Amino acid sequence: MPVNTLNREKFGLLFAALALAVMTVWSPVSVEAAHPSFKSVIYPILEYYCLECHQPGGRGYEKSGFDMRTYESLMKGTKHGPVVVPGDAFSSNLMVLIEGRGDKSLKMPHNEYRLGPSKTDRQEIRAWITDGAKDDDAFHDAVHPSLGIHCLECHQQGGRGYDKSGLDMSTYETLMKGTKHGPVVVPGDAFSSNLMVLIEGRADKSLDMPHFDRGDLSRWEKHLIRAWIIGGAKNN
Ligand code: HEC
Ligand code: HEC
Repeated sequence: MPVNTLNREKFGLLFAALALAVMTVWSPVSVEAAHPSFKSVIYPILEYYCLECHQPGGRGYEKSGFDMRTYESLMKGTKHGPVVVPGDAFSSNLMVLIEGRGDKSLKMPHNEYRLGPSKTDRQEIRAWITDGAKDDDAFHDAVHPSLGIHCLECHQQGGRGYDKSGLDMSTYETLMKGTKHGPVVVPGDAFSSNLMVLIEGRADKSLDMPHFDRGDLSRWEKHLIRAWIIGGAKNN
């Protein structure tokens, strides 16, 4: 009996040590709140692995009605309803399928030969759903940072662009106020917004922004600014 007791104690200790080790390894992951951005982290993953079949004309869309082209259509789900439950990754059908927890024939992405999202990708999607499955705030998360990198140097008090045109991009309010001649953003109309005219190089070449061969905005940045204006140029 004493031997047995000793063994049990040893096991108890071993178990405690193991539990501690596991907790130490896991705690940074679970404690640190993750806020993956929809536009820059989640969407590119879904676009890469799923979009081909989940847009009009694709097999997944035709059979299920599930269109993954935009945040809105993703949240709308299939013809039977939503597949993302904000805050609850475990019950979200999207996650059930990606993790292969449903009927095997339904594991996404469909097709025997295809690799699904990597372990890191799956963690990001899970964290995004757990965090509330939110869309990015277009202005604060995408537009303002881009303008900050490419334009702010000249377009704030004391900068050359500000001195000549009066356009100050340091806040939403000053950006919407525009130049001394008036607004450069027409909410809902990217095509007529002078900001877009300049960014896309549709104006007189001498006015191409950013002036003086500063790095150009990427296509993605231009797309996000255009989308923000089309969506009403809101302070979100
Ligand atoms: C090669 C094509 C293909 C790819 C790639 C694909 N799907 Fe699908 N998906 C389908 C088809 C086809 C259906 C219709 C369900 C069925 O009957 O098999 C479907 C249905 C679904 C459904 C609805 C299932 C239901 O409950 O009706 C979800 C959710 C889904 N796909 C998620 C994804 C996700 C997430 C990805 C990317 C990781 C993805 N799909 C990639 C073809 C595809
Ligand atoms: C290196 C300095 C510099 C940078 C960087 C810069 N600008 Fe300018 N910007 C100017 C100057 C100078 C003017 C005054 C117009 C002129 O006479 O060339 C101006 C004027 C403007 C105007 C008003 C044009 C008009 O109709 O009068 C807009 C809109 C504008 N800039 C947008 C931008 C945007 C968007 C960016 C970033 C993508 C940017 N600028 C980056 C220097 C700059």
